[in-house]
Amino acid sequence: MDENVRTEVQKRLDRYLTDGLAAVTGWFEPDSAEVVATVLGHQLATDVRGDVAEIGVHHGKSFLLLANGVRPDERAVALDVFEDQARNVDDSGRGDRDVLERNVAQWAAESEVVVVQASSTDVAVADAASTFGRVRLFSVDGGHTSEITRHDLLLAETVLVDGGVVVLDDVLNAHWLGVLTGLTHYLAGDHGLVPFALSPNKVYLAAPADAATYAEVLREAHPDLLGKRDVELLGSRIDIYGQGSPRVRQRYADDVAERSSRHAAVAAAAASVATAEGRVAELQDAREATGRRIEELALLLAEEKRARLAAERRIAAMTGSTSWRLTTPVRAASGWAKARRRG
Ligand SMILES: C[S@@+](CC[C@H](N)C(=O)[O-])C[C@H]1O[C@@H](n2cnc3c(N)ncnc32)[C@H](O)[C@@H]1O
Repeated sequence: MDENVRTEVQKRLDRYLTDGLAAVTGWFEPDSAEVVATVLGHQLATDVRGDVAEIGVHHGKSFLLLANGVRPDERAVALDVFEDQARNVDDSGRGDRDVLERNVAQWAAESEVVVVQASSTDVAVADAASTFGRVRLFSVDGGHTSEITRHDLLLAETVLVDGGVVVLDDVLNAHWLGVLTGLTHYLAGDHGLVPFALSPNKVYLAAPADAATYAEVLREAHPDLLGKRDVELLGSRIDIYGQGSPRVRQRYADDVAERSSRHAAVAAAAASVATAEGRVAELQDAREATGRRIEELALLLAEEKRARLAAERRIAAMTGSTSWRLTTPVRAASGWAKARRRG
């Protein structure tokens, strides 16, 4: 029975990765979506149970992946200020509840989704479970200031089940360094989670007992995305997915190959245009030469015509004269005598 559930949930995850991700607007790199899907898949396979949750859902691009990863008895909780944008103090994204709900209906209709309109700062750490439940995958992508980031990490840590993972967005985004600052403050304090991996825009945290397991799971699942292992980050060693990885290098190489083949095609097209232009110029020259020859011939023809008319006029003048008419019998007799001599 559980195996069937797992297969069904995995199918929904795959469908969202293949069709949904590109269709929903927001911020979620495909390479990171794959890594998050692997974490969800591992939880399904190892019977880690609990809800999923996201703070800061915007239109649901990343939330919907989480929502597709729940079993029938688990919930997906989406919290955002939505239309109350005055509370989006750092202007990170812009939640829209109507758009989110349409996207949920289209891409996660089979999951139990709970939408909460609030600022995460309204939720007290001690009371986090009443809003989020007990969570196995918690995505933090709401306010991007250091205070809100630290607060949201504490919320996530409080409700996380054993084997759970927290995914923090924008940690290395140069425009949102409050997130890195907030993570630093969280790790400098009394903290229960440690980072174990980083993928485009995301850092992954888990309890120390789980971090090593997840690091292994990701290494095994994504050798083509693994760029570097054991990079130091704020007291932990983490693996870097994306940057410098075989897949990303291959993508650059394919990109360069495609550009150079497009360049060659453009150069070949330019060369054939130049050849065609040369041929057009030759044909124009030939047409001009033919035009000139036609004009010359027309002049010659006109001259010829004038000469013929002049000759006809001279003949007419001669045959119409009196002497010509008087000498007609003489010309006839001379013709008769010539004929007899011959006969
Ligand atoms: C960068 S967007 C989230 C992107 C989203 N995760 C995605 O997949 O595209 C940030 C979101 O956080 C919301 N937000 C900002 N401050 C918040 C707060 N204090 N509490 C809850 N949501 C907040 C914004 O309304 C916005 O929708």
